[in-house]
Amino acid sequence: MIADQLNRQLRDLRISVTDRCNFRCRYCMPAEVFGNDYPFLHSDELLQFDEITRLASLFASLGVKKIRITGGEPLLRPNLPALIAQLTKVQGIEDIALTTNGTLLASRAQALKDAGLKRITVSLDSLDDERFGQINGRGAPVQPILAGIKAASDAGLKVKLNAVIKRGTNDQDILPLARFFRGTGHTLRFIEYMDVGNSNGWRMNDVVAGQEILAIIDKDMPLEPLAEGYQGEVARRFRYRNSTEEIGIISSVSNAFCSTCTRARISANGFLYTCLFASSGHDIRAALRSNASDEEIKKLISDIWTARADRYSEERMQTTARGSKIEMSYIGG
Ligand code: GTP
Ligand code: 5AD
Ligand code: SF4
Ligand code: SF4
Repeated sequence: MIADQLNRQLRDLRISVTDRCNFRCRYCMPAEVFGNDYPFLHSDELLQFDEITRLASLFASLGVKKIRITGGEPLLRPNLPALIAQLTKVQGIEDIALTTNGTLLASRAQALKDAGLKRITVSLDSLDDERFGQINGRGAPVQPILAGIKAASDAGLKVKLNAVIKRGTNDQDILPLARFFRGTGHTLRFIEYMDVGNSNGWRMNDVVAGQEILAIIDKDMPLEPLAEGYQGEVARRFRYRNSTEEIGIISSVSNAFCSTCTRARISANGFLYTCLFASSGHDIRAALRSNASDEEIKKLISDIWTARADRYSEERMQTTARGSKIEMSYIGG
C-alpha cells in the first residue's frame, strides 16, 4: 500500500485503451475540435496488451484492487476481450469494469462476458433521438444503445448507466431516464457536467447540481439515501423509497470528492496521470519499452503517487490561472 501527500492510498486504476471515439459528445470531444485532421494516436504509440497487463500487475502489487477500462470508446480497440481475459488473471485485482458508449455493445457483450468481465457502465444522456443525436454529435439514435444494454444484461453482465446532465441541453431528460431505468435492475447515475479538457466551453451556469437533480426525482418518486457501496465511491447512492431499486448522483462539481480519491489513470499511450484535470502526465511507456525491471517501474510509479497532492475539484473555484488540461478522451474520465 502506498499513500500520497494527502494520505490517499492508490487503489484504483483507470486504463484508457484508445483515444478514439465514434461519438463527438459536445462535453467531451466537440466535433469542431476533434475533426478529420485531429492528431489521434498511431497504433504503435498505444500500449500493447502485454504492456497493459504487466502494468496492471505492477499496480496490483502496489495496492490496486480495481481496474476500469476506458477510452475514448474502448470497444473500438480491436480484440478487447483478449485484454480482459489477460487482466482477469492478474493477482490482486478484485474488480474489472468497463465504461462504454454502448454503440458496439450488442455485438460484443457476450465475448466480454466470456472473457471474464463482470460489469459494465453504459453512457446514455437522453432517451429522445433528437436530443441524443445532438449530444453525441453524430446524430446516432438511442435504440442501438438500448439493444447494447439488453445484450449486456442478457449475457449476465451487471449494468450501470451514466447520464451527464447539462442545463438547457438535457435537463428535461432527468425524469424520463429515471422512470425508464427504475425497475430494470440497472443502476442509473446522474453526473454533473464537468470542466474536463480544454474544449467543451464549460460554464458553471451549465451545471445542474446533484441536489437539484435529486429534488426533481424525489418529487415524483420519493428517494432515501443508502450507505456507500465501497470506500471512496464517487456516486452517492439512493433508493426509491420502500424498494431495492437504486440510483446514484455524481456531484463532482458541487460536492467534490478529492479527499477520498484513490484513482490513478493511464492514458492510451502509457502516461500516468494522478488527476482527471492534470496538465501533464508521466511517461511510463518509455520505462516499459526500456529494459527497466519490475522493481524499477514500481519505484517510478510509487515515487509519482507518493508525491501526489492533486485536489482539482476542491480547488476549482479558488484557482484562476491554470495550464491546459488533459483531454477527457485521453484518460477516459
Ligand atoms: P463504479 O466503479 O461503478 O463506482 O464507477 P465510477 O463511477 O468510478 O466510474 P465511471 O467511469 O462510471 O465514472 C463516472 C463519472 O465519474 C464520470 O463522469 C467520471 O469522469 C467521474 N469520475 C470518476 N472518477 C473521478 C475522479 O476521480 N474525479 C472526478 N472529478 N470525476 C471522476
Ligand atoms: N462531465 C461529466 N462527465 C463526463 N463524461 C464525459 N465528459 C464529461 C464531462 N464533461 C462522462 C461520460 C462517461 C464517463 C466516463 O464520463 O459520459 O459516462
Ligand atoms: Fe466518446 Fe464517451 Fe467522450 Fe462521448 S463521452 S465523445 S462517447 S468518449
Ligand atoms: Fe481525484 Fe482529481 Fe477528481 Fe479530485 S479532481 S477526485 S483529485 S481525479
